Amino acid sequence: MARAVVGTEARVHEAAIINTGAILDHETIIGPAAHIVPGFALAGRVTVGERALVGAGAAVRPRIVIGEDAVVATGAAVVDDAPGALVGGVPARPLRRAAEPVR
Ligand SMILES: CC(C)(COP(=O)(O)OP(=O)(O)OC[C@H]1O[C@@H](n2cnc3c(N)ncnc32)[C@H](O)[C@@H]1OP(=O)(O)O)[C@@H](O)C(=O)NCCC(=O)NCCS
Repeated sequence: MARAVVGTEARVHEAAIINTGAILDHETIIGPAAHIVPGFALAGRVTVGERALVGAGAAVRPRIVIGEDAVVATGAAVVDDAPGALVGGVPARPLRRAAEPVR
């Protein structure tokens, strides 16, 4: 989408959404059908798994792996790997997962 920035050697797989103003820095990998929402900033060499959702305004430290189907809450600062979890807060920690997470 408009004003998104995709850095050097970043890879975006099929059906992924790179939403308005999102920043993917160098060598980042975005898995199939993942959703990188408006204003999100990924540092270099981050990997986002298939179908993961990264919430608005979140930030992710370099080299972090966000797993398949993971959800990163709005405004989170992700400093540890998030394997298939719902994480949020600063620094991001696991959150209780509701029955139907809001996407
Ligand atoms: C994280 C998220 C998925 C949780 O939604 P939910 O499943 O409906 O969860 P709830 O609102 O019931 O909250 C569950 C718990 O997480 C906490 N929480 C919810 N959102 C949070 C956030 N952004 N940061 C920190 N904690 C959060 C709640 O306070 C609650 O804590 P509790 O168990 O101590 O009461 C949602 O808040 C979110 O951030 N979605 C991303 C939306 C988005 O950016 N969409 C992009 C559109 S383009």
